[in-house]
Amino acid sequence: MSTTRLFEPLTLLHGAPMRNRFMLAPLTNQQSELNGAASAFDQDWFRQVARSGYGLVHTAAAHVEASGIAFERQLGIHDDDQLPGLRQMASAIREGGGLSSVQLHHAGHRANPRLGGIPAPASTRTLPGISALTTEEVERIRDSFISAAKRAQLAGFDGVAPHGAFGWILSEFMSPLLNDRKDKYGGSIENRARLTIEVIEGIRRACGADFQIGWRLSVERYGLRLEELREIVWEILGRELIDYLDLALWDSAQIVGTGTFRGKTMLSVFTEIPRGGVRVGTAGKIMSAKRCAELLDGGCDFVLIGRAGILERDFPLRVKANPLHESPKPPVTAQYLREGGLSERFIMHMRGWESFVQPGSV
Ligand SMILES: Cc1cc2nc3c(=O)[nH]c(=O)nc-3n(C[C@H](O)[C@H](O)[C@H](O)COP(=O)(O)O)c2cc1C
Repeated sequence: MSTTRLFEPLTLLHGAPMRNRFMLAPLTNQQSELNGAASAFDQDWFRQVARSGYGLVHTAAAHVEASGIAFERQLGIHDDDQLPGLRQMASAIREGGGLSSVQLHHAGHRANPRLGGIPAPASTRTLPGISALTTEEVERIRDSFISAAKRAQLAGFDGVAPHGAFGWILSEFMSPLLNDRKDKYGGSIENRARLTIEVIEGIRRACGADFQIGWRLSVERYGLRLEELREIVWEILGRELIDYLDLALWDSAQIVGTGTFRGKTMLSVFTEIPRGGVRVGTAGKIMSAKRCAELLDGGCDFVLIGRAGILERDFPLRVKANPLHESPKPPVTAQYLREGGLSERFIMHMRGWESFVQPGSV
């Protein structure tokens, strides 16, 4: 096991190569303006991570429709008025030498009415008194993902990554528990995956051959069936519809507990699929140089850094300087995060994450 490979470039099917194997994971931090425009705090954060040696930097989940919002002060990409802020972010990342990608998000049935969200469930049974989206409404949301990708391209981003994890709309549609539709978007797994595939294909058509498309996927909870997801991933990788698959695990070492793949690592269920030119990586408790290198040895092409990147903005540079580097262990004090460059809004958001900020620290 060596950390050298982490710093080798990685070509993607479209657009420029990554300079190394580190991606900054999408990290919601609730520091945008109330209308979804990027704030001075967002720009400050992106200036910091742009200088931190990542091969590719994801934005936080950016909502593709005003009514698809989940969080207060969430970044938005649903309006051309948001372009100037997005442009500034994209240029900061480019100047730092990394690729940039906007995570495209719609909260689906979890859209928050307190913030102007309109809950948009796949099934009528999901939320009492709220009807399932009509077929036309699903198509409108699909087109909003595609328009948002176009906006990201106009702003100068290298690509986008539709958010297909954590029960948000694309993963909601994939789930037999949350999707009991009778139209072309429900029923068989092919139909439940249709929204995701139409979003991906639509983005490729709208944004052309140089634009990069990632896909973030949850493979458990929300009623999702691992065996089915494996089939869909097989198809999407086989047809080379995307540039990279980001497996949104909470623990990259997770073992499958039930079903056909019981006892295998969750990662191997996907890394064993023929991937053509598509790149595959994962997130989940990747907190040391050693763990990054192990994951590359275990079949990943890249790693996604989440909490370690909040604890130390320059995690990739530290790994480069020291092949034995380990991230500090949370909880940390608010002052530690402040000194590291986090805004008060970001720190407030982190107080909501279990065991991350020391309770009572100011
Ligand atoms: C503060 C915070 C915000 C997050 N926001 C997002 C998000 O906007 N979109 C997303 O797909 N995942 C989000 N995640 C999940 C991370 O991208 C990552 O997959 C997860 O934290 C596991 O990686 P880690 O163990 O390195 O933190 C968030 C995680 C954290 C800690």
